Amino acid sequence: MTMDLFSAGNLGSITMKNRVVMAPLTRNRAGEGGVPQSINVSYYEQRATAGLIVTEATPISNMAHGYPALPGIYTEAQIAGWKKVTDAVHAKGGKIVIQLWHVGRISHPSLLPDNALPVAPSAIKPAGQAFTYEGLQDYVEPRALAAEELPMIVLDYVHATQCAIAAGFDGVEIHAANGYLLDQFLRDGSNQRTDAYGGSFENRARLLMEVTQAVVDVIGSDKVGVRLSPVNPFNDMKDSNPQALFNYVATALNQFDLAYLHAVEGGIHGGGEADPFDFSAFRKLFKGQYMANLSYDKAKGNAAIASGHADCIAYGVPFIANPDLVARFKADAPLNEANSDTFYGGSAEGYTDYPFLQN
Ligand code: PHB
Repeated sequence: MTMDLFSAGNLGSITMKNRVVMAPLTRNRAGEGGVPQSINVSYYEQRATAGLIVTEATPISNMAHGYPALPGIYTEAQIAGWKKVTDAVHAKGGKIVIQLWHVGRISHPSLLPDNALPVAPSAIKPAGQAFTYEGLQDYVEPRALAAEELPMIVLDYVHATQCAIAAGFDGVEIHAANGYLLDQFLRDGSNQRTDAYGGSFENRARLLMEVTQAVVDVIGSDKVGVRLSPVNPFNDMKDSNPQALFNYVATALNQFDLAYLHAVEGGIHGGGEADPFDFSAFRKLFKGQYMANLSYDKAKGNAAIASGHADCIAYGVPFIANPDLVARFKADAPLNEANSDTFYGGSAEGYTDYPFLQN
């Protein structure tokens, strides 16, 4: 029997009733103190028929923030807020992992404690502007992290993972994609270090491997995924040899026996032209399960699963506008159009008011 989007499956110890995953989506609607509120509970609960929900990217510390109104996963109040989300999703028979995020240089002093400078592997200012509470402001030159500070960053991931367990999540996804901190270490456009964390592929991947080991030690490898975006130019990212770098990273991640590897197979947010990349070769180097993301529709998702390229498919924008995306795929029903004006921030409009199919 060939498998498709509607086949049950599992990622490590996370069982899925289907292979339609809700991708992480930044929505900027958390409450004061980065605490998820009832509207966020409703939003995730509405989408619990997904085989798995990956939450919006969620800062692991107060230095990990880079946008307004993000939820966090490092305080007691945030744990309590997220617990309501996981309880609601579980009550509907869904599964949910939280995406652990440190934005690195993609931030602004006005979003950080005591107007701190954003931190990064190297003091290289990204092109572009930060979304702040005062509107768009140019990115600043970040402060290069000292090697002695990196164990503290790893401990922030450990603490966030402990918080995720307390909040009832089924697992965690380490965000190492899209030009944020761990990706900034991986790619040489943003990492010009000359110490053990820069230069060779092994050195540039060192922080990701240390974070992954530490997170695995807390929650277990069968509950950990890692997200990569080998050629996404968004956030002023580039690398001199992405295929060789990410082939190395996919291979190195095999040591952990992870629940899954999640790949953004191209560029997002109109960040420019993505370099050519052989995702099939990259995928084959990873020995575990593979979650594919970007521009898949139902037919492409089914084809990717049938061919063995992917074990599940993460859908982003379609899940914004279609809380019942799985039912619509199953029925070959038309999809609601997403309104990009209400993607980031605001209230229920464009968040929890997209219509379900009428039965
Ligand atoms: C965004 O807020 O635009 C955003 C956040 C996390 C990502 C990508 C984009 O991984």
